[in-house]
Amino acid sequence: MSLLQCTDLAKQFSDGENITSVLEGVNLTVDQGQSVAVVGSSGSGKSTFLHILGGLDTPTSGTVLFNNENIHQFNQAKAAQWRNKNIGFIYQFHHLLPEFTALENVAMPLLIAGQSTSTAEETAQAMLVRVGLAHRIKHFPSQLSGGERQRVAIARAMVHQPELLFADEPTGNLDNATGLAIYALLLELKTEYNMTSVIVTHDAQLAAKCDKQVTLTSGKMAEL
Ligand SMILES: Nc1ncnc2c1ncn2[C@@H]1O[C@H](COP(=O)(O)OP(=O)(O)OP(=O)(O)O)[C@@H](O)[C@H]1O
Ligand SMILES: [Mg+2]
Repeated sequence: MSLLQCTDLAKQFSDGENITSVLEGVNLTVDQGQSVAVVGSSGSGKSTFLHILGGLDTPTSGTVLFNNENIHQFNQAKAAQWRNKNIGFIYQFHHLLPEFTALENVAMPLLIAGQSTSTAEETAQAMLVRVGLAHRIKHFPSQLSGGERQRVAIARAMVHQPELLFADEPTGNLDNATGLAIYALLLELKTEYNMTSVIVTHDAQLAAKCDKQVTLTSGKMAEL
């Protein structure tokens, strides 16, 4: 069954003078439980595409259906609730909140969902242990290494066990060995929690581990 379906997706950015066309008629179906790797050169629109699929940005035209519902027709409250419940997003650069500890960052989606602080922090702590950061729970992002920050970002994206996980090249700024360890963890957890996932990567080896590989070139998507 398809969980996510995008049809004829187009995205243009306009600054009043120039129009940049980034996506042109993109179609993609992601089945329940499937993992899809998105590859493409820098500037090909991978982040733009992921942000539109995750409801963080709107398309110029076309539709994104999640369980047959058009996510861009949700009102603001419904969109926020949908994201909080169903979506995990690991950003290209971790996007952790600098003034909160690792534990507080990971607990955030649960607090937003209405859990008590003690319940949320208990679950967040277990998730941080799961990603190998038992010894860094009280650290602030500035006190963590790049790889540790991405582990926190993974824990935050998965702590509420979302149905759909997006990862936007989460190892872009890490050394090779650290990057591979982060991806291994990501794939392991995705399988453990049975999450459907869309992962942007430059890494051909990682892309090959996903069920389906698609590429973005000149605004068009093709299956590899
Ligand atoms: N807000 C914006 N206004 C104008 N142009 C934009 C905007 N956001 C992105 N773009 C342009 O859209 C294109 C795609 O950007 P995007 O960030 O999606 O690429 P990417 O494939 O994720 O690249 P990378 O691999 O470097 O992360 C780029 O040419 C970029 O300049
Ligand atoms: Mg990008």
